Parts: sequence; structure tokens; C-alpha cells
Amino acid sequence: MTAFAHEPNPQPLSVNERAGLLADPGFGRVFTDHMATIRYSADEGWHDAKITARGPVTVDPATAVLHYAQEIFEGLKAYALDEGGIALFRPDANAARFRSSAERMAMALLPEEMFLESCRQLVLTDRDWIPAIDGGALYLRPFMFASEVFLGVKPATEYLYCVLASSVGAYWKGGARAISLWVSHDYTRAAPGGTGAAKCGGNYATSLVAQAEAVRRGHDQVLFLDAVERRWIEELGGMNVMFVMADGSLVTPPLTGTILPGITRASILQMARDEGLTVREELYSIEQFRADAQSGALVEAFACGTAAVVTPIGKVAGPDYAFDIGSGGTGQTTARFLQRLSDLQRGRAPDPHGWLHRI
Ligand code: PLP
Ligand code: COI
Repeated sequence: MTAFAHEPNPQPLSVNERAGLLADPGFGRVFTDHMATIRYSADEGWHDAKITARGPVTVDPATAVLHYAQEIFEGLKAYALDEGGIALFRPDANAARFRSSAERMAMALLPEEMFLESCRQLVLTDRDWIPAIDGGALYLRPFMFASEVFLGVKPATEYLYCVLASSVGAYWKGGARAISLWVSHDYTRAAPGGTGAAKCGGNYATSLVAQAEAVRRGHDQVLFLDAVERRWIEELGGMNVMFVMADGSLVTPPLTGTILPGITRASILQMARDEGLTVREELYSIEQFRADAQSGALVEAFACGTAAVVTPIGKVAGPDYAFDIGSGGTGQTTARFLQRLSDLQRGRAPDPHGWLHRI
């Protein structure tokens, strides 16, 4: 077990100030009093594991990440259980994905046990920051960047790993509602052989212009197509996508290396198989999506991810087309997966696969 030194925040927020923030935290703007850090150097390996007051990290202007973007991150949530206590949802899967992202970005590999312990220690330290509101959770953001001060283009020999905790409610402003997608036919997110399956900051940097275009055109999220043929549906800027067909089957793009292997995606596919649904991980084109939505062969579509949980998709538009999914609201299958996943994450439903990690 990694020993974390604890340096408590000498000026934590007062109980009243915290309660004010937790009443309506939104997503990603309320942070707790502490953070976890671990340093890596080629000479010393992983060392200096700490829980300290959350605060600025000072970096030299020549720090490698600022130039060549060697950076990866994760996102997972800690939930207050109905029975009391706190649980993380499948943190081992995040720890494993963090290592495979690091491998792709030629970074140091953090042992999974250190990843889990850093999350556990931070959540235990800031356990009073989980909002007691519908959908409330502590969103953990483990990340790591090249901290070596050097301008040569090569894998860095020093890294800083850090975990932040953010008190969150719903990801979407205005709460639960069906979202609208803009299909980008101009920009792609990831090409074969690229970094699409890694959770690296660069993937998000390149998605922003497409996401901004979607918002400018009045939509919530961008839907990306594949980079080669520009017709196969991949994923959204920050979540995977699933389709519910009239015959009851569930369709989702396969993990071909250009999309993120979402943990929510994997969990929903498993839950669907457990229910006896037919699950098809197969290529699905934008033309087929339009045709199936219009003919009624497709009845629902939803986005899924740690931040977005399960979010219904009501409308889809591209440069010269627009169509609704079903009635444009929340379909039955989408609502059922949202409920089943939320119940499981809060310990209200059986957990046959042992996904809850009580801490
Ligand atoms: N795809 C992208 C691009 C994401 O950023 C995310 C969010 O992490 C997901 C999919 C969903 O992954 P997960 O369910 O592991 O949060
Ligand atoms: C997550 O769901 O954890 C993500 O990283 C996606 C982002 C939209 C916040």
C-alpha cells in the first residue's frame, strides 16, 4: 500500500460556505479542499505521495507539457450510498485505462494500486463534499503531465500525477432533458493509428472547434464521424453513443482504436446482455442512422459517460438535414438504463459484477 503523507488544508472552507456551494454545484466548477499528488522521475520512480491543500501548481515556462502536450486524464465518480458509506464505480477500469493512455503517450506507468489509493485517500479526506442532491457525486479527475523542464522532443523523464475532486450535480445546464446533436462533416476527432482510444488532453483540444460550432448552431454536442470515409458514427466530444432499434436490440460503434473505450459504455452493454437484449457492436453509418430514425427502425438514441451518465438524444442535424429521434424526448430503454445504472451506483440495486468499490 502506498503511504500518503497528509498535509491538511489549514484554511478549509467553512461548513456554511460549503453547504452554499453544494446546493447547486453544476459540473466542474466546485472543488474540494484537498488534492492528491505523486511525483515520478526516471531516477527515483514514483515518490512523494501526498494529500495537500488544493492549490496552484507552479511550472517553469519550458515544462514539456506546455509545448508537446504529453498529458492524460481520467474521470470517475464517488457516490454516497443509501446504506451509508461511499463507493467508487469501477475504479479499477479507470486505473487500467490510465495506464493504457500513458503507454500510448510514452509516459511513465502509474501502478494501478497507487491510482486506487490516491482516489480513496482523497475521497476519504473530502468526504463531506459529496452533494446530497439528486444525481450528486464527487467527480474525481486524476491526471498526469510531463513536468520535465526541457525543450527537446522526446518522452519526458519527469511527471506529476494529481487527483482533483469536484462536487457535481447534472452535467447539463437545465438538468435532465433530451439533447440535440450537430454532426460534424468537416472536423474529425481521431484517425486510425492516432490517439482516439487514449484519454489525452490533445483529443479534447482538437474537438473544441467542432463542439463550439455545434453550440453556435444551437446544439448541445458534436457527433464525430470516422476520419477515413467520413460516414461511420464514432462518438460525441465527451461521451459514447448508443442506438436502440425497434426490434429491441442495442447498437453501438465498435472499439476500433479511434474512440474512447468508455466504462459506462461497457457497463451498459453488460447490463443489456444480462437483460437478454441483443447487443451489436458494429459500424453504423450516418445515412443509415437518418434512414432508420425516419422509418422507425430506430426508436431511441442516447449518450453515455461518467459525466453525462445516460442522456437521451432527441434531435440530430447536419449541414443539409435534420431529424428527430422517436418523439424527441426520453425513450423507455434510455430511461431504464439511466435508472438501473444510477440505482447500482448508489447501492440501491444488486451489483452482480462487483462494480461498486466501497471505500
Ligand atoms: N468518450 C469520450 C470522448 C469521453 O471523454 C468520455 C468520458 O470520459 C467517454 C467517451 C465515456 O467514458 P466513461 O464512460 O469511461 O466516462
Ligand atoms: C467524463 O465523463 O469523465 C469526461 O471526461 C467527459 C467530459 C465531458 C467531462
